[in-house]
Amino acid sequence: MKKWFLYSLFLVLCIYMMSSIAQTTEDKSQGSLAHFKPTLSADLKELIKTADIADGKEYFMRKCSSCHDEYQSETHGKGPNLWNVFGRKAGTSEGFEYSDAMRQSGHNWSFATLNYYLTRTERAVPGRIMNFRGIRQDKYRAKLLLFLSTMNDTPPALPE
Ligand code: HEC
Repeated sequence: MKKWFLYSLFLVLCIYMMSSIAQTTEDKSQGSLAHFKPTLSADLKELIKTADIADGKEYFMRKCSSCHDEYQSETHGKGPNLWNVFGRKAGTSEGFEYSDAMRQSGHNWSFATLNYYLTRTERAVPGRIMNFRGIRQDKYRAKLLLFLSTMNDTPPALPE
């Protein structure tokens, strides 16, 4: 009787562990940038390549400039300075007080990671302190990404 009881306890524990493993793998496919490397779809690459930089700048001025400026400087606003953000490790611009979440996310900013972050910021960096939800429409994100890539000493190559 006792053996039987222990055996079923063990079984229940196994099932519980397996389901929590399944849960974590699921999170990894669409979750935090600390565990997940996003890629760009072919459609999005095309949208970025054909976007209009002036439109992207206009969008940045409307949606981002209350917290981030567009200049090559080392001063911060409510958000960190975004000059040279492409190629930078997240959460490392000198002199800005990032959230632990952003500092510990560990990824580098690229077209793919910025696109993923700017789609739904809280999903990409849970606990982030940037008070901006995200941009649903691909075409708006694409033109913004193109503009952001020009805010750089050496702008990155466009995604192939
Ligand atoms: C209400 C203010 C606010 C708005 C609006 C805002 N941000 Fe931010 N942003 C922040 C803050 C604060 C952080 C730091 C987040 C953290 O530490 O968790 C941040 C962080 C970032 C980072 C990470 C930078 C780094 O050095 O790792 C990027 C990229 C970024 N923002 C882009 C944008 C873009 C693009 C827009 C416009 C679509 C935007 N933000 C709109 C406040 C804002």
